[in-house]
This record gives sequence, structure tokens and C-alpha cells, in this order.
Amino acid sequence: MEKIILNTKNNKSTILIGESLKNVTKYISAKKVIIITDSNILKHYKSDFIDYPIIEIGLGESIKTLNTVEKIISKLIDFEFDRNSLLLGIGGGIVCDITGFVASIYMRGVNFGFISTSLLSQVDASIGGKNGVNFNSYKNIIGNFNQPQFVICDTKMLNTLPKDEILNGIGEIVKHSLITDAKMFNFINENLDNILSLNEKAIDYLVTESIKIKSEIVEKDERESGERKKLNFGHTLAHAIEKHQNIAHGKAVSIGIVFASKISLRKNYISKAEFNSIAQCLENIGLPTKLNVDKKLIIEAIKKDKKRTNNNISFVLLNKIGEVIIEEISLSELENYIYDLC
Ligand SMILES: NC(=O)c1ccc[n+]([C@@H]2O[C@H](COP(=O)([O-])OP(=O)(O)OC[C@H]3O[C@@H](n4cnc5c(N)ncnc54)[C@H](O)[C@@H]3O)[C@@H](O)[C@H]2O)c1
Ligand SMILES: [Zn+2]
Repeated sequence: MEKIILNTKNNKSTILIGESLKNVTKYISAKKVIIITDSNILKHYKSDFIDYPIIEIGLGESIKTLNTVEKIISKLIDFEFDRNSLLLGIGGGIVCDITGFVASIYMRGVNFGFISTSLLSQVDASIGGKNGVNFNSYKNIIGNFNQPQFVICDTKMLNTLPKDEILNGIGEIVKHSLITDAKMFNFINENLDNILSLNEKAIDYLVTESIKIKSEIVEKDERESGERKKLNFGHTLAHAIEKHQNIAHGKAVSIGIVFASKISLRKNYISKAEFNSIAQCLENIGLPTKLNVDKKLIIEAIKKDKKRTNNNISFVLLNKIGEVIIEEISLSELENYIYDLC
């Protein structure tokens, strides 16, 4: 088991990789605990749950709303949940994002922890303290920054995760390697079969390294004013794709990584060989690399990106595998790249 401590200005979060769901009580001192989870997790793991009351939420992005938040809050009131209690989210990114948000606003904030169960959630969504819900067509537009007391990444639970969801998480793992760690990128290329078959050693290594990378970045810049922007590598195009195509986030990120790498090649920051190794790696994994949405729709969506300032977008490029540079790119330049490179 690996343990990583994420320290921010106001919080300390303990992250445990390879710990079992069954040991969660070791990390809880609150007398009253309520679980938030979804039906897939209950189907596979209900018998392993400690005997705490359960609030079950629905599945999919469409339930990540204020309406779900209100329903949970009514139940917390019924359970007489108070400031000394702990809210425990057991699930993927959707359960964690909602649990963290409810815990942050209920009674002006109660303690919370996660058992993170999807690969995407273990390497990304449950780490770093961004909590929130969607509003209308705007993803994660309502939320806050607040770190969970603990995150348990029980990597054995990944054995019941559908293959497609595994690929989704690997998209973010590749992103982490590309932005900071060439050695990890090589490991991915050299151990693809082990990774895809969920070999415990390979997966625990990748989850641990990903969390280390994200934690170090978040410790320097919790509220995304500088360093944390690195994590948006591949995400400008990914968010635009997700607006118009029903595609898993990690897959959209894969297409976004190839696009950002192509711009990096065009600007002579990376070599053709580096570009090819990135695209080949994603293809070997089975992730998509090509845009499948009308370019005009993509450009419109990028214009509405919440990270846009005036006519520029802070765009994350690769300087080499394992190192990024962030540049302001004008919307018109980006528009040309989309027509030219996609
Ligand atoms: N807060 C952040 O920093 C952050 C970062 C990235 C993504 N996110 C958010 O995370 C969400 C996506 O997360 P996700 O991909 O985990 O989606 P998800 O929570 O919908 O989980 C994916 C699917 O896998 C199922 N599942 C999860 N764990 C399982 C297991 N062990 N066995 C069987 N089935 C399991 C879920 O029920 C669901 O159907 C999005 O809403 C996204 O906005 C947040
Ligand atoms: Zn992402």
C-alpha cells in the first residue's frame, strides 16, 4: 500500500493506494457516517460495505445536478446528519464530485472522504479538491475547492470496472506522463499488455505516480491560477468535443492530446518522432485520436470555453515529452489549427 499526503493551505488529505474498501473504518473517527454511492457500486460491493446508512444516486452526467444535491440534503436532514458526522462517497468521479460538493455546503461544511472506484476517479477526479455539479449544458460550472479528509483508491475494485471505463482512465494517465514524466510514458509503452489486463503491480504504479504528479501540482496551486493549468493539457479540444459528442471524457482527452501535440510539432517544440510516439501510444491503447465532430461546432464551443480570456486561450503545449509550456493562443490562430490539423 502507498500513502500520499496532499497538503494545501487549509487542508490535509491522506490518499491511500491499494488499501481495501473494507478497511475504511481505520480512517474514520466520526460517530455518524452516511454513504453516497450509485447502483453499480451497490451491485458489486454492497456486501463489503460497513453498516452505515446509504443514499443511492442515479447514474451518468445527467444526474450531476443541483436537483440531486437537494435530494441528498433532504435525506441528510432526515438522518440528523450534523457537523460532527462524515459523508463518505463510494464511487467514480460523479459520486465523488457530488459528495464533495454536498459536504462543502451542508451546514457550511462537514467532513468527507472518498473510496474512489473508477480508474479516472482514482488518478484524477477524486484527487485535488475540485467538487461540483453541472448546470444546464455547462459542466462543473457550480462548485468549490475543498479537500477530502482521505481518499482510498482500492485498485482491486477496478476488476469490475467495464473495459471502456478503464481506457477512459488511461487517457488521463497518459496525460500525466506527458506533462511531467517521460519515464512514466516509457513505462506505459513498454507495459501495455500488463496495464490493459490490470496487472496489480503495473496499475498500482501508474495510479500512485499519477496521484503524486497531480498532488504536487495542486499543492503549488490549488485554485488553478498557474501551475494547475498544466493539467488541462488536451482539455480545450476535449471539452469542445464533449459538448457535441456522447464520448467518455478520457477518450475526448486522447483526441485533445493528439491535437495539442500536433500544434507543439508545428511550432517545432517537439520532434516528429516524439509526436509519432504519442499518437502511436494512444492508438495502441485503443483510445481515439481523430476528431469526429463538425469543425465549426468545435470552434463555437471553444469560443464559449470558461477558460477563455478576451480573444485568447491559455493553451498547454508540449516542450518535450515530460515537459509543458503554456502559451496564450488567439482564437483565430486556434481556429486555423483546427481546420489545418484536425
Ligand atoms: N473533480 C475533478 O477534479 C474531476 C476531474 C476529472 C473528472 N471529473 C468528473 O468525473 C466524472 C467522471 O468520472 P468517472 O469516469 O469515474 O464516471 P462515473 O462516476 O460515471 O463512473 C463511470 C461508470 O463506472 C461505474 N463504476 C465506477 N466504479 C466501478 C467499479 N469499481 N466497478 C464497476 N463499475 C464501476 C459507475 O457506476 C459508472 O457507471 C465527470 O463528471 C467529470 O466531470 C472531476
Ligand atoms: Zn480530464
